[in-house]
Amino acid sequence: NAPHRAPSGHGAFPAARPRRLRTTPALRRMVAEHRTRPSDLVLPAFVREGISDPVPVSSMPGVVQHTRDTLRKAAVEAVEAGVGGLMLFGVPLVKDAVGSQGTDPDGILQQALRDVRSEVGDDLVLMSDLCLDEFTDHGHCGVLDAQGRVDNDATLERYAEMARVQADAGAHMLGPSGMMDGQVGHARAALDAAGHTDVALFAYTAKYSSAFYGPFREAVASSLKGDRKTYQQDPAGNAREARRELSLDLAEGADMVMVKPGLPYLDILRDFAGSTDVPVGVYQISGEYAMVEAAAEKGWIDRDAAILETLTSFTRAGASVILTYWAVEAAKLLRAQR
Ligand code: PBG
Repeated sequence: NAPHRAPSGHGAFPAARPRRLRTTPALRRMVAEHRTRPSDLVLPAFVREGISDPVPVSSMPGVVQHTRDTLRKAAVEAVEAGVGGLMLFGVPLVKDAVGSQGTDPDGILQQALRDVRSEVGDDLVLMSDLCLDEFTDHGHCGVLDAQGRVDNDATLERYAEMARVQADAGAHMLGPSGMMDGQVGHARAALDAAGHTDVALFAYTAKYSSAFYGPFREAVASSLKGDRKTYQQDPAGNAREARRELSLDLAEGADMVMVKPGLPYLDILRDFAGSTDVPVGVYQISGEYAMVEAAAEKGWIDRDAAILETLTSFTRAGASVILTYWAVEAAKLLRAQR
Protein backbone atom coordinates (compact mmCIF):
# COMPACT_ATOMS: atom_id res chain seq x y z
CA ASN A 1 0.00 0.00 0.00
CA ALA A 2 2.77 2.38 -0.84
CA PRO A 3 1.20 5.75 -1.63
CA HIS A 4 2.79 5.88 -5.09
CA ARG A 5 0.91 2.67 -6.05
CA ALA A 6 -2.53 4.16 -5.43
CA PRO A 7 -4.58 3.14 -8.52
CA SER A 8 -6.44 6.39 -8.89
CA GLY A 9 -4.55 8.75 -6.70
CA HIS A 10 -3.74 12.00 -8.39
CA GLY A 11 -0.09 12.77 -8.49
CA ALA A 12 0.86 9.20 -7.57
CA PHE A 13 2.69 6.88 -9.95
CA PRO A 14 0.24 4.66 -11.85
CA ALA A 15 -0.41 1.01 -11.10
CA ALA A 16 -2.08 0.55 -14.47
CA ARG A 17 0.27 1.11 -17.40
CA PRO A 18 -1.37 0.65 -20.82
CA ARG A 19 1.95 1.59 -22.41
CA ARG A 20 3.27 -1.86 -21.45
CA LEU A 21 1.46 -3.40 -24.42
CA ARG A 22 2.94 -0.87 -26.80
CA THR A 23 6.60 -1.51 -26.09
CA THR A 24 7.55 -3.61 -29.13
CA PRO A 25 6.24 -3.98 -32.66
CA ALA A 26 5.49 -7.66 -31.96
CA LEU A 27 3.37 -6.77 -28.95
CA ARG A 28 1.52 -4.09 -30.83
CA ARG A 29 0.84 -6.52 -33.68
CA MET A 30 -0.39 -9.17 -31.28
CA VAL A 31 -2.95 -6.97 -29.59
CA ALA A 32 -4.09 -5.11 -32.71
CA GLU A 33 -7.84 -5.61 -33.08
CA HIS A 34 -8.20 -4.43 -36.65
CA ARG A 35 -6.41 -5.25 -39.83
CA THR A 36 -7.65 -4.21 -43.26
CA ARG A 37 -7.21 -7.05 -45.74
CA PRO A 38 -6.42 -6.56 -49.44
CA SER A 39 -9.55 -8.54 -50.29
CA ASP A 40 -11.67 -5.92 -48.46
CA LEU A 41 -10.61 -3.32 -51.00
CA VAL A 42 -12.46 -2.29 -54.14
CA LEU A 43 -10.81 -0.17 -56.82
CA PRO A 44 -13.08 2.40 -58.50
CA ALA A 45 -11.94 2.85 -62.11
CA PHE A 46 -12.90 5.10 -65.00
CA VAL A 47 -13.01 4.02 -68.61
CA ARG A 48 -13.43 6.65 -71.30
CA GLU A 49 -14.71 6.16 -74.79
CA GLY A 50 -12.70 7.28 -77.80
CA ILE A 51 -9.23 7.79 -76.34
CA SER A 52 -6.09 5.97 -77.39
CA ASP A 53 -4.02 6.78 -74.29
CA PRO A 54 -5.04 7.04 -70.66
CA VAL A 55 -5.91 10.58 -69.57
CA PRO A 56 -4.66 11.65 -66.14
CA VAL A 57 -7.24 13.14 -63.77
CA SER A 58 -5.39 16.26 -62.65
CA SER A 59 -7.18 16.62 -59.33
CA MET A 60 -6.44 12.97 -58.47
CA PRO A 61 -2.70 12.42 -58.98
CA GLY A 62 -2.12 8.79 -59.98
CA VAL A 63 -5.70 8.23 -61.21
CA VAL A 64 -6.49 8.09 -64.94
CA GLN A 65 -9.39 7.72 -67.29
CA HIS A 66 -8.55 4.37 -68.83
CA THR A 67 -8.73 3.21 -72.39
CA ARG A 68 -10.42 -0.18 -72.75
CA ASP A 69 -6.99 -1.67 -73.10
CA THR A 70 -5.35 -0.10 -70.07
CA LEU A 71 -8.42 -0.95 -68.02
CA ARG A 72 -7.93 -4.64 -68.77
CA LYS A 73 -4.35 -4.32 -67.57
CA ALA A 74 -5.42 -2.46 -64.45
CA ALA A 75 -7.87 -5.26 -63.67
CA VAL A 76 -5.13 -7.88 -63.97
CA GLU A 77 -2.89 -5.79 -61.74
CA ALA A 78 -5.69 -5.53 -59.16
CA VAL A 79 -6.13 -9.31 -59.15
CA GLU A 80 -2.39 -9.81 -58.74
CA ALA A 81 -2.36 -7.42 -55.80
CA GLY A 82 -5.17 -9.40 -54.15
CA VAL A 83 -7.71 -6.58 -54.40
CA GLY A 84 -11.27 -7.78 -53.79
CA GLY A 85 -13.18 -5.94 -56.47
CA LEU A 86 -13.42 -3.32 -59.16
CA MET A 87 -16.13 -0.66 -59.46
CA LEU A 88 -16.43 0.62 -63.02
CA PHE A 89 -17.54 4.05 -64.19
CA GLY A 90 -18.00 4.83 -67.89
CA VAL A 91 -17.27 8.15 -69.57
CA PRO A 92 -19.10 8.22 -72.91
CA LEU A 93 -18.23 10.32 -75.93
CA VAL A 94 -21.78 11.57 -76.29
CA LYS A 95 -24.07 12.58 -73.44
CA ASP A 96 -27.76 13.39 -73.80
CA ALA A 97 -30.79 14.26 -71.67
CA VAL A 98 -31.73 10.67 -70.82
CA GLY A 99 -28.21 9.21 -70.68
CA SER A 100 -28.77 6.87 -73.64
CA GLN A 101 -25.23 5.51 -73.54
CA GLY A 102 -25.89 4.10 -70.12
CA THR A 103 -28.39 1.62 -71.51
CA ASP A 104 -26.85 0.96 -74.92
CA PRO A 105 -25.52 -2.61 -74.86
CA ASP A 106 -22.53 -1.27 -76.79
CA GLY A 107 -22.04 1.75 -74.55
CA ILE A 108 -18.53 2.17 -73.15
CA LEU A 109 -19.40 0.86 -69.68
CA GLN A 110 -20.97 -2.31 -71.06
CA GLN A 111 -18.05 -2.90 -73.43
CA ALA A 112 -15.61 -2.43 -70.57
CA LEU A 113 -17.56 -4.82 -68.34
CA ARG A 114 -17.35 -7.49 -71.02
CA ASP A 115 -13.62 -6.80 -71.48
CA VAL A 116 -12.81 -7.06 -67.80
CA ARG A 117 -15.01 -10.09 -67.20
CA SER A 118 -13.38 -11.97 -70.06
CA GLU A 119 -9.93 -10.91 -68.85
CA VAL A 120 -10.20 -11.81 -65.15
CA GLY A 121 -13.35 -13.94 -64.93
CA ASP A 122 -14.39 -14.47 -61.34
CA ASP A 123 -10.99 -13.62 -59.84
CA LEU A 124 -12.36 -10.37 -58.53
CA VAL A 125 -15.85 -9.01 -57.92
CA LEU A 126 -16.79 -6.93 -60.94
CA MET A 127 -19.07 -4.04 -60.02
CA SER A 128 -20.58 -1.23 -62.04
CA ASP A 129 -22.03 2.13 -61.17
CA LEU A 130 -25.78 2.04 -61.66
CA CYS A 131 -26.37 5.75 -62.16
CA LEU A 132 -27.04 8.14 -65.01
CA ASP A 133 -24.88 11.14 -64.15
CA GLU A 134 -21.89 10.03 -66.21
CA PHE A 135 -24.20 9.76 -69.24
CA THR A 136 -26.50 12.78 -69.00
CA ASP A 137 -25.67 16.13 -70.59
CA HIS A 138 -27.15 17.99 -67.60
CA GLY A 139 -25.07 15.85 -65.23
CA HIS A 140 -27.88 14.81 -62.90
CA CYS A 141 -28.28 11.26 -61.63
CA GLY A 142 -31.67 10.92 -63.30
CA VAL A 143 -33.89 12.22 -66.04
CA LEU A 144 -35.57 15.60 -65.68
CA ASP A 145 -39.25 16.53 -65.77
CA ALA A 146 -40.70 19.49 -67.67
CA GLN A 147 -39.75 21.83 -64.82
CA GLY A 148 -36.16 20.61 -64.85
CA ARG A 149 -36.47 18.66 -61.60
CA VAL A 150 -35.08 15.14 -61.26
CA ASP A 151 -38.02 12.83 -61.95
CA ASN A 152 -37.75 9.95 -59.49
CA ASP A 153 -40.05 7.40 -61.09
CA ALA A 154 -39.08 8.07 -64.70
CA THR A 155 -35.48 7.59 -63.54
CA LEU A 156 -36.34 4.23 -61.97
CA GLU A 157 -37.40 2.98 -65.41
CA ARG A 158 -34.01 4.02 -66.78
CA TYR A 159 -32.19 2.30 -63.90
CA ALA A 160 -34.15 -0.91 -64.50
CA GLU A 161 -32.98 -1.03 -68.11
CA MET A 162 -29.47 -0.07 -67.07
CA ALA A 163 -29.39 -2.88 -64.51
CA ARG A 164 -30.32 -5.40 -67.18
CA VAL A 165 -27.64 -4.32 -69.67
CA GLN A 166 -24.92 -4.16 -67.02
CA ALA A 167 -25.80 -7.64 -65.81
CA ASP A 168 -25.91 -8.90 -69.40
CA ALA A 169 -22.43 -7.46 -69.88
CA GLY A 170 -21.03 -9.49 -66.99
CA ALA A 171 -21.20 -7.41 -63.81
CA HIS A 172 -21.33 -9.53 -60.64
CA MET A 173 -22.69 -6.69 -58.59
CA LEU A 174 -24.34 -3.35 -59.31
CA GLY A 175 -23.99 -0.19 -57.27
CA PRO A 176 -27.19 1.88 -57.39
CA SER A 177 -25.77 5.28 -56.48
CA GLY A 178 -28.35 7.79 -57.67
CA MET A 179 -30.26 8.13 -54.38
CA MET A 180 -33.64 7.76 -56.07
CA ASP A 181 -36.38 6.39 -53.85
CA GLY A 182 -37.10 2.77 -54.72
CA GLN A 183 -33.95 2.29 -56.82
CA VAL A 184 -32.91 -0.92 -55.09
CA GLY A 185 -36.31 -2.59 -55.42
CA HIS A 186 -36.67 -1.52 -59.02
CA ALA A 187 -33.23 -2.79 -59.99
CA ARG A 188 -33.83 -6.06 -58.12
CA ALA A 189 -37.13 -6.66 -59.91
CA ALA A 190 -35.56 -5.90 -63.30
CA LEU A 191 -32.65 -8.26 -62.65
CA ASP A 192 -34.89 -11.06 -61.45
CA ALA A 193 -37.24 -10.67 -64.40
CA ALA A 194 -34.25 -10.98 -66.74
CA GLY A 195 -33.02 -14.14 -65.03
CA HIS A 196 -30.12 -12.37 -63.28
CA THR A 197 -31.06 -13.59 -59.82
CA ASP A 198 -27.38 -14.07 -58.93
CA VAL A 199 -26.37 -10.50 -59.68
CA ALA A 200 -26.06 -8.70 -56.35
CA LEU A 201 -26.88 -5.13 -55.34
CA PHE A 202 -24.46 -3.02 -53.33
CA ALA A 203 -26.69 -0.11 -52.37
CA TYR A 204 -25.31 3.36 -51.84
CA THR A 205 -27.63 3.59 -48.86
CA ALA A 206 -26.45 6.69 -47.04
CA LYS A 207 -24.98 8.98 -49.63
CA TYR A 208 -24.45 12.56 -48.58
CA SER A 209 -24.48 15.66 -50.71
CA SER A 210 -20.80 16.31 -50.19
CA ALA A 211 -18.26 18.96 -51.11
CA PHE A 212 -15.70 16.18 -51.45
CA TYR A 213 -17.03 14.84 -54.78
CA GLY A 214 -15.23 17.61 -56.69
CA PRO A 215 -12.40 15.63 -58.30
CA PHE A 216 -14.82 12.87 -59.39
CA ARG A 217 -16.68 15.42 -61.48
CA GLU A 218 -13.46 15.95 -63.42
CA ALA A 219 -12.88 12.21 -63.67
CA VAL A 220 -16.25 11.62 -65.36
CA ALA A 221 -16.20 14.92 -67.30
CA SER A 222 -19.41 15.88 -65.52
CA SER A 223 -21.44 18.71 -66.92
CA LEU A 224 -23.39 19.23 -63.69
CA LYS A 225 -24.36 22.76 -62.80
CA GLY A 226 -25.89 23.19 -59.39
CA ASP A 227 -25.99 20.40 -56.87
CA ARG A 228 -27.67 17.14 -55.86
CA LYS A 229 -29.27 18.38 -52.66
CA THR A 230 -32.79 17.27 -53.65
CA TYR A 231 -31.77 13.63 -53.76
CA GLN A 232 -28.55 13.11 -51.80
CA GLN A 233 -28.74 13.38 -48.01
CA ASP A 234 -28.03 16.52 -46.05
CA PRO A 235 -24.72 16.32 -44.16
CA ALA A 236 -26.25 18.10 -41.18
CA GLY A 237 -26.67 15.00 -39.12
CA ASN A 238 -29.81 13.14 -40.06
CA ALA A 239 -28.63 9.79 -38.76
CA ARG A 240 -32.29 8.82 -38.40
CA GLU A 241 -32.76 9.49 -42.08
CA ALA A 242 -29.79 7.22 -42.81
CA ARG A 243 -31.40 4.47 -40.72
CA ARG A 244 -34.62 4.91 -42.65
CA GLU A 245 -32.74 4.61 -45.94
CA LEU A 246 -31.11 1.49 -44.51
CA SER A 247 -34.39 -0.23 -43.66
CA LEU A 248 -35.85 0.66 -47.04
CA ASP A 249 -32.83 -0.65 -48.95
CA LEU A 250 -32.81 -3.89 -46.97
CA ALA A 251 -36.54 -4.35 -47.50
CA GLU A 252 -36.04 -3.75 -51.22
CA GLY A 253 -33.36 -6.44 -51.41
CA ALA A 254 -29.96 -4.80 -50.97
CA ASP A 255 -27.26 -7.46 -50.54
CA MET A 256 -24.71 -5.00 -49.17
CA VAL A 257 -25.03 -1.39 -48.08
CA MET A 258 -22.67 1.54 -48.30
CA VAL A 259 -21.92 4.79 -46.57
CA LYS A 260 -20.40 7.56 -48.65
CA PRO A 261 -18.20 9.63 -48.24
CA GLY A 262 -16.00 7.89 -45.68
CA LEU A 263 -14.03 9.94 -43.17
CA PRO A 264 -16.66 12.66 -42.57
CA TYR A 265 -19.33 9.97 -41.94
CA LEU A 266 -17.66 7.40 -39.71
CA ASP A 267 -20.49 7.80 -37.19
CA ILE A 268 -23.02 6.64 -39.77
CA LEU A 269 -20.74 3.77 -40.77
CA ARG A 270 -20.42 2.66 -37.14
CA ASP A 271 -24.16 2.92 -36.75
CA PHE A 272 -24.87 0.74 -39.80
CA ALA A 273 -22.21 -1.81 -38.89
CA GLY A 274 -23.78 -2.27 -35.49
CA SER A 275 -27.34 -2.56 -36.67
CA THR A 276 -27.50 -4.66 -39.80
CA ASP A 277 -26.73 -8.23 -40.75
CA VAL A 278 -25.54 -7.53 -44.30
CA PRO A 279 -21.96 -6.49 -45.11
CA VAL A 280 -21.40 -2.77 -44.76
CA GLY A 281 -19.12 -0.90 -47.12
CA VAL A 282 -17.69 2.59 -47.29
CA TYR A 283 -16.57 4.72 -50.21
CA GLN A 284 -13.46 6.81 -49.64
CA ILE A 285 -14.26 9.37 -52.29
CA SER A 286 -12.26 11.48 -54.70
CA GLY A 287 -11.92 14.53 -52.45
CA GLU A 288 -10.66 12.38 -49.57
CA TYR A 289 -8.04 10.97 -51.91
CA ALA A 290 -7.12 14.40 -53.25
CA MET A 291 -6.66 15.88 -49.76
CA VAL A 292 -4.10 13.29 -48.73
CA GLU A 293 -2.28 13.42 -52.07
CA ALA A 294 -2.09 17.21 -52.00
CA ALA A 295 -0.82 17.38 -48.42
CA ALA A 296 1.71 14.64 -49.13
CA GLU A 297 2.92 16.41 -52.24
CA LYS A 298 3.65 19.44 -50.11
CA GLY A 299 5.58 17.22 -47.73
CA TRP A 300 3.14 17.94 -44.92
CA ILE A 301 2.17 14.36 -44.09
CA ASP A 302 3.63 10.88 -44.46
CA ARG A 303 1.59 9.70 -47.43
CA ASP A 304 1.68 5.91 -47.00
CA ALA A 305 1.08 6.06 -43.27
CA ALA A 306 -1.81 8.46 -43.79
CA ILE A 307 -3.39 6.19 -46.39
CA LEU A 308 -3.18 3.14 -44.14
CA GLU A 309 -4.49 5.10 -41.17
CA THR A 310 -7.61 6.14 -43.09
CA LEU A 311 -8.23 2.55 -44.15
CA THR A 312 -7.80 1.32 -40.59
CA SER A 313 -10.35 3.88 -39.44
CA PHE A 314 -12.93 2.36 -41.80
CA THR A 315 -12.17 -1.17 -40.68
CA ARG A 316 -12.33 -0.10 -37.04
CA ALA A 317 -15.69 1.59 -37.63
CA GLY A 318 -17.03 -1.70 -38.99
CA ALA A 319 -16.60 -1.57 -42.76
CA SER A 320 -16.05 -4.96 -44.34
CA VAL A 321 -15.65 -3.48 -47.81
CA ILE A 322 -13.75 -0.29 -48.66
CA LEU A 323 -13.85 1.47 -52.02
CA THR A 324 -10.65 3.42 -52.43
CA TYR A 325 -8.64 4.79 -55.34
CA TRP A 326 -5.56 3.53 -53.50
CA ALA A 327 -6.82 -0.08 -53.55
CA VAL A 328 -3.94 -1.61 -55.53
CA GLU A 329 -1.21 0.33 -53.82
CA ALA A 330 -2.78 -0.15 -50.39
CA ALA A 331 -3.07 -3.90 -50.99
CA LYS A 332 0.68 -3.96 -51.61
CA LEU A 333 1.38 -1.85 -48.53
CA LEU A 334 -0.81 -4.09 -46.40
CA ARG A 335 0.95 -7.19 -47.66
CA ALA A 336 4.35 -5.69 -46.93
CA GLN A 337 3.20 -4.84 -43.40
CA ARG A 338 3.93 -7.49 -40.84
C1 PBG B 1 -22.72 8.86 -58.96
C2 PBG B 1 -21.44 8.79 -58.20
C3 PBG B 1 -20.65 9.84 -57.75
C4 PBG B 1 -19.57 9.29 -57.11
C5 PBG B 1 -19.69 7.91 -57.20
N1 PBG B 1 -20.88 7.62 -57.86
C6 PBG B 1 -20.82 11.29 -57.96
C7 PBG B 1 -21.82 12.03 -57.18
O1 PBG B 1 -22.63 11.49 -56.47
O2 PBG B 1 -21.84 13.27 -57.33
C8 PBG B 1 -18.47 10.05 -56.47
C9 PBG B 1 -17.26 9.27 -56.15
C10 PBG B 1 -16.09 10.11 -55.76
O3 PBG B 1 -16.19 11.33 -55.52
O4 PBG B 1 -15.01 9.53 -55.69
N2 PBG B 1 -22.60 8.20 -60.20
